[in-house]
Amino acid sequence: MTQPAAPVRLAVIPGDGVGPEVVAAAVLVMRAAVAAEGGELKTTELDWGGERFLREGAAMPADAAAVVKTHDAVLFGAVGRPDVPDHELVWGLIIGLRQQLDLAVNVRPVHAFPGVPTKVRDTDGVDLVIVRENTEGEYVGAGGLAHAGTGHDLGIEVAVHSRRVIERAAHHAFALAEQRSGRLSLVTKSNAMRFGYPLWDRVVTEVAEQYPAVELEIVLVDAMAARMIQSPRSLDVLLAGNLFGDILSDLAAVLAGGMGMAPSANIHPGGQVPGIYEPVHGSAPDIAGRGLANPVACILSGALLLDDLGHTNAAHGIREAVAAALLDPVNHTPDLGGDATTADLASAVLNRMEI
Ligand code: NAI
Ligand code: MG
Repeated sequence: MTQPAAPVRLAVIPGDGVGPEVVAAAVLVMRAAVAAEGGELKTTELDWGGERFLREGAAMPADAAAVVKTHDAVLFGAVGRPDVPDHELVWGLIIGLRQQLDLAVNVRPVHAFPGVPTKVRDTDGVDLVIVRENTEGEYVGAGGLAHAGTGHDLGIEVAVHSRRVIERAAHHAFALAEQRSGRLSLVTKSNAMRFGYPLWDRVVTEVAEQYPAVELEIVLVDAMAARMIQSPRSLDVLLAGNLFGDILSDLAAVLAGGMGMAPSANIHPGGQVPGIYEPVHGSAPDIAGRGLANPVACILSGALLLDDLGHTNAAHGIREAVAAALLDPVNHTPDLGGDATTADLASAVLNRMEI
């Protein structure tokens, strides 16, 4: 008999708004998928987020990174609540954790599942991945406020782009492109911005020499926004800095049915640090607490997590079950034009898993 695989030690951060709803659905599906291959999912639930901030003045404890490191990976819902300033929670939790754990790469796949209605026409076969640099760029947090409250307030936000960080993201994107179609599109804005993005162009072109099987193109972000809608099937792997990657991935999500469909992984290149897997969407306070949230983005984030931990059969099983469930409009949540609840769609996925 073969030895049973070690249990997956999963830290779960449900967070705020729809976070707990979609995370509960995803954990249910992941537990079943791991059990189906004879494994076990051991979860630790962490109460980090808005409520903790209101109670204790901080969204997460000071030793958060150390807590995370006692696990194999993190499944995160979302943070954000109307009664707490956004930056306290987004910076105090997810951006903070990405930086503390040096989760330098954010991988955001967009796959148009058959049967899912989209606001953009002709999206059949769309299957692309955005690799976004996750620690620097416009979100590095450098800047300040001068003349505050004088009526002449001055906001200074400095973007930072370093060769080391660009190289890391580039290697990840090239390796991914090698496994996929062999096409990589770098997204920059080197016509208007004269320092950071030309550095991206230069460094990524240098890295390209190590990946002769991958064809690199450099596209300006505004042109990419149009192309993503006009000819999305011409795209496979996109590499972008923090801001452009963030914006383009919301746009790309629309090609797959919207924010409820977009998963993501925050990973440390090299993989010695637990990754954080989360839906691209936020806490969606407008629909929270009513069972209206689409759990697919979070469930697919769980599949990415299991893939990266080597549980590829479990991950594959989840994606197949999601695809099968989405074929039937009865299982569509309101964002997809249906009236299924979060729990209905999660059960439909569970029912289609071979367990
Ligand atoms: P959002 O992604 O929460 O919502 C945008 C729109 O998409 C809303 O109409 C919402 O109802 C819909 N939506 C989102 N997720 C959905 C799902 N699973 N199923 C169906 N519909 C869904 O973005 P928004 O409204 O800009 O931000 C709300 C809060 O979330 C803010 O406090 C923001 O700071 C926070 N946020 C947190 C993120 C994180 O934790 N990683 C990421 C983005 C926003
Ligand atoms: Mg975003």
